[in-house]
Amino acid sequence: MRLGPYELSSNLFLSPLAGYTNLPMRLTVRELGGLAWATTDLVNARSLLERNPTALKLVASAPADRPFAIQLFGSVPSEMRDAAVMCEDLGAESVDINMGCPVKKVVKIGGGSAMMTELDKTAALVRGMIAAVKIPITAKMRLGWDDDNLTAPDLARVLEEAGVAAIFVHGRTRAQGFSGRVNIAGIRSVVAALTHIPVIGNGDVTTPEAAKHMLDETGCTGVSIGRGAFYDPWIFRRTHHYLRTGELLAEPTFEERVAVMRRHFERYCEFYGEMYGCRLFRKVAPWYAKRFGPAKPFKQRMIAITSRADFEAAIAEHIRWRAQFCDAGGVLLAKYAPAPMVASFLRDPNSADAMESDAIRVPKGPVEVW
Ligand SMILES: Cc1cc2nc3c(=O)[nH]c(=O)nc-3n(C[C@H](O)[C@H](O)[C@H](O)COP(=O)(O)O)c2cc1C
Repeated sequence: MRLGPYELSSNLFLSPLAGYTNLPMRLTVRELGGLAWATTDLVNARSLLERNPTALKLVASAPADRPFAIQLFGSVPSEMRDAAVMCEDLGAESVDINMGCPVKKVVKIGGGSAMMTELDKTAALVRGMIAAVKIPITAKMRLGWDDDNLTAPDLARVLEEAGVAAIFVHGRTRAQGFSGRVNIAGIRSVVAALTHIPVIGNGDVTTPEAAKHMLDETGCTGVSIGRGAFYDPWIFRRTHHYLRTGELLAEPTFEERVAVMRRHFERYCEFYGEMYGCRLFRKVAPWYAKRFGPAKPFKQRMIAITSRADFEAAIAEHIRWRAQFCDAGGVLLAKYAPAPMVASFLRDPNSADAMESDAIRVPKGPVEVW
């Protein structure tokens, strides 16, 4: 697929996940293949212009992290314009505008989902950004404020006219938060509203089949995956392969998972320093462990690591402890293997556990309001 002037290597995108989609995660996921494009966590335009160290860390990139987009939020047109220019100067391939963020502090200043209710003002802000830079500007939105205000098709149409290069749409409303299922028909109505720019569908894609379902049922051009990449950083490679061949690649082995988690961890230490890197990685390791099989003691140790040595000791201890659940060849016995991921659209919505099993967990921590 194309996005603005770029021909992409696949139609798969990594969704911004504040607190997670930092440079270490982007490099780790890209290395596994299949991912065409990644976006930074959202960055406050004003903080970036003020060269706030946290904001600068959020936009840090590397040659292996290409193409990448910086996601901005803010509601002051001159700030959004100047921040877009700064992103271009920093070497970003694109700037994405956050229009779908339900966090209170973002909505309060008129950014995020509040933008979806003021079309004219938003179009003017976006036009100002587009006029100021050569790189494409994209927008990420939810379906609307609530079920009575499904404004995404109207907003998308206005933004297409204003000149944005693509629309990312998470198929939920702001009022919905992360509950319920993604509204596939809602995404389809955004696709139908546009004439020439691609729509990238987003929400609840945790398997290659779910990505194909999103493409087939909505007519969107690309799929963006967020939480699914926590569960399975290989999802892009497996989905790309599935979309091309119809064949499902095997899930990675335990050893591969540990190897990739190690590289991810090492990048945290390099990027944030060992102490702080360890602290931040405490919330990443449990996502890897979800696919390890039994791993409770490992998760408990991981949430207390303060050094590379702690990290390695926890892995070594886990490998020893895990042997009791394995056969002589070191392979986890089937009864202890984690249940295969099932795409939410394949579940029976009337089953007793449907709501529970449909819900992809939203990580805890400072970003739990997402
Ligand atoms: C922890 C967390 C942080 C998020 N941070 C952002 C963000 O910075 N910008 C944004 O546009 N969306 C953000 N989102 C929303 C995701 O990009 C995505 O739209 C949403 O999670 C649905 O996709 P998924 O089901 O594939 O995760 C975040 C979601 C989560 C769970």
